[in-house]
Amino acid sequence: MNPARSKRGAPPSGHPLVAPGGGGVGSALPQAARSPGAPGWPWPLPALAAWALGWGCWIGLAAAGLAPGLALGAAVLAASALALRAQGRWRRLLAAGGFPLSLLALGSAPPPWVWLVLLVPLALAYPLRAWRDAPFFPTPAAALDGLEALVTLAPGARVLDAGCGLGHGLMALRRIWPQAQLAGVEWSAPLAALARWRCRSAAVRRGDMWLASWGGQDLVYLFQRPESMARAAAKAEREMARGAWLVSLEFEVPGRRADACLRREGRRPVWAYRVGFSSIEGGASR
Ligand SMILES: C[S@@+](CC[C@H](N)C(=O)[O-])C[C@H]1O[C@@H](n2cnc3c(N)ncnc32)[C@H](O)[C@@H]1O
Repeated sequence: MNPARSKRGAPPSGHPLVAPGGGGVGSALPQAARSPGAPGWPWPLPALAAWALGWGCWIGLAAAGLAPGLALGAAVLAASALALRAQGRWRRLLAAGGFPLSLLALGSAPPPWVWLVLLVPLALAYPLRAWRDAPFFPTPAAALDGLEALVTLAPGARVLDAGCGLGHGLMALRRIWPQAQLAGVEWSAPLAALARWRCRSAAVRRGDMWLASWGGQDLVYLFQRPESMARAAAKAEREMARGAWLVSLEFEVPGRRADACLRREGRRPVWAYRVGFSSIEGGASR
């Protein structure tokens, strides 16, 4: 067992990095994926609280006779202040925007066809197939910093972000491996186009990451959902060369021990699995 680990695959507390172990793609050590260790409230509490506060202020202040404009301004301000407890820009936006958007929706009571029209860009941006794996949620800029000390890649190594969204993962990968040949595949056409535009040094294409070959990649990076991880590990084993890497932000491969794990206070863990070295817990590598 890797001495840097405590038990069940987790590094000892306070240990920021776990160096690659001798194991391989893994063994049976499922561990609940963690949310970022936010100093604030756990998600989605900030959003629910911000929406409730917005509505509470709006109803209360209007009932107290305050002019609608002032009541609305105060309610939006209060909801936005509470939304700051959420971690990350997107969550803050969601928490702050919920009250005014719901007020707008209910207040203006648009005809049903308006909702259908509004759904069109959403369906374009997030086709159903993309939702099954993971909705858009970007890799924070510094989320992978330090991984390069655990996972050694040759200059010019081929790295794929499977489900690259708007390219945030590609940018985080570029930060730590400036010489890598980066590629991204993304199911949503608008997101793929934007990622291509934002990450000019990466080859981004629109496609299904499950149908795209991972063969020839030295590392495949994922930020998907817990449910996608077993499938991803099986695909990596089938298609990637022995010694290549499967790296996942936040979500572990169930039933497998990571070869390396990057953990820092308040950040999502990064799990790294070496293809072709799978082992059963406490058992032999194959
Ligand atoms: C959580 S986001 C991560 C985006 C990016 N990898 C990052 O870390 O910033 C997941 C992305 O995977 C995409 N996705 C989900 N299923 C997919 C599939 N089958 N093929 C390609 N992309 C997919 C979604 O559209 C979404 O943009």
